[in-house]
Amino acid sequence: MQANFHTLLWLLTAAASVVFGLSITSATTTTLGIDVEGSARLNGGSFQTSAITSYNGWQYAAFYNTSGTYAQNLVTLGRRKINPVAAWEFIVFKDYVQTTIDGHNTISLGISTGDGTIHLSYDHHDVPLHYRVSQQGVATNPASYTWSTALFGSTLNALPGATGIWTPVTYPRFERVDNDLFFELRIGASGSGDSYIYLYSSSTHSWSQVGRYLQGSDNNAYINGIDYLSGRLQASWTWRETPDVVTNHDLGYAYSDDKGLTWKNNAGTTIASMSAGTAIGPTTSGSIVYTIPQGSGILNQEGQIADAAGRFHVLNRETTSGTYLWYHYWRSATGIWTRNAISISGLGAPTATGLRGKLAIANSGELIALIPSNTNTEVYIYASTVAGSFKDWKLLWTGTGFSTEPLFDKARLKDQNILSVFFRQSGSYPDRKLQVIDFALGS
Ligand SMILES: *[C@@H]1O[C@H](CO)[C@@H](O)[C@H](O)[C@H]1NC(C)=O
Repeated sequence: MQANFHTLLWLLTAAASVVFGLSITSATTTTLGIDVEGSARLNGGSFQTSAITSYNGWQYAAFYNTSGTYAQNLVTLGRRKINPVAAWEFIVFKDYVQTTIDGHNTISLGISTGDGTIHLSYDHHDVPLHYRVSQQGVATNPASYTWSTALFGSTLNALPGATGIWTPVTYPRFERVDNDLFFELRIGASGSGDSYIYLYSSSTHSWSQVGRYLQGSDNNAYINGIDYLSGRLQASWTWRETPDVVTNHDLGYAYSDDKGLTWKNNAGTTIASMSAGTAIGPTTSGSIVYTIPQGSGILNQEGQIADAAGRFHVLNRETTSGTYLWYHYWRSATGIWTRNAISISGLGAPTATGLRGKLAIANSGELIALIPSNTNTEVYIYASTVAGSFKDWKLLWTGTGFSTEPLFDKARLKDQNILSVFFRQSGSYPDRKLQVIDFALGS
């Protein structure tokens, strides 16, 4: 009898886990500060890489906090212990005042784990580089440093050690590469620009140029991101002909197995070599994985993520079916691409320049999509599984009262299986807060 009872329980539990799969078991909100005044979204932009990141049991979040005066915004850097979670503590850089009310001009944050340096780059839309870096060791032994702006150097207009072109800069991104750090940026302008990668060495504590890997031809590539995992760096992008978003076209993809020195197309053929001075352009052989004509709704800088099984995923949107739909594109470990409209009841349609979403990977392997409604203030978190061919999207969470492109802490998700998301509330200044919600994941 007892055995049967246990068998029944086991069956129920097994059935429940098949039905329910990944879930959010708790959501904890903390507040970072007050979003700045004005019509531009200076916090919570999809290209901010990263707004929030963690290392060694501590988490960091970068944002502009209000100074109380319109168009006088201050770079603010929070840190907190996350193992276990403690309160945020903040430093405010008063030696640099951000004054351009333009949603391009966000802050990006990166950590070189090898030497414990924290890197910040901020306030760009086709202007000279703004960059500052902490002393070594700050992220390695955080508890032994009082959180103070004195830990950081001043704003620089070049990366120390590197030869490069430092203006006009837009969209700085950091990405960890083993114990070191990549810096990726656009030089040029919308409709006419190139993308460069630099590498920070945690042994020499200095930067070097890897090269120009994407080169516009009277146009520019807008990347969904650069993701480094298991020795492979992967990028996906759309091409833009003019500053007008309707001239976006195609989905491009390339990868590098030598930290950006050479790049391969989907078939594995080398298509760019930094030492030879060659870059990927709009007509480079095998670099377009889906031909999507101009006027078909693909947006610049949406979501991408690599998974541990060698797959690579992209989130974007199209009107090619005749109606605006979200799309998931993914590459199998053997290089086969699949494109599926994301069909979920309750998920509204995207719009031409509506808020952009992100993709993440749970440690259990599910694909997570963080999608902001393009028509109201909701943000949705969904998950799908490899067993369901990533078409079995299931709603994990809905929140309301946001005007944000949801940004998450990739390192913490991997280390703690906690999806820690940076949110900007909707509403008017000064009620609009910047928050972090920690979603604990269960399965
Ligand atoms: C951010 O701005 C708010 C409103 O002025 C203020 O209360 C808060 O102390 C600021 N945060 C920091 C870290 O200065």
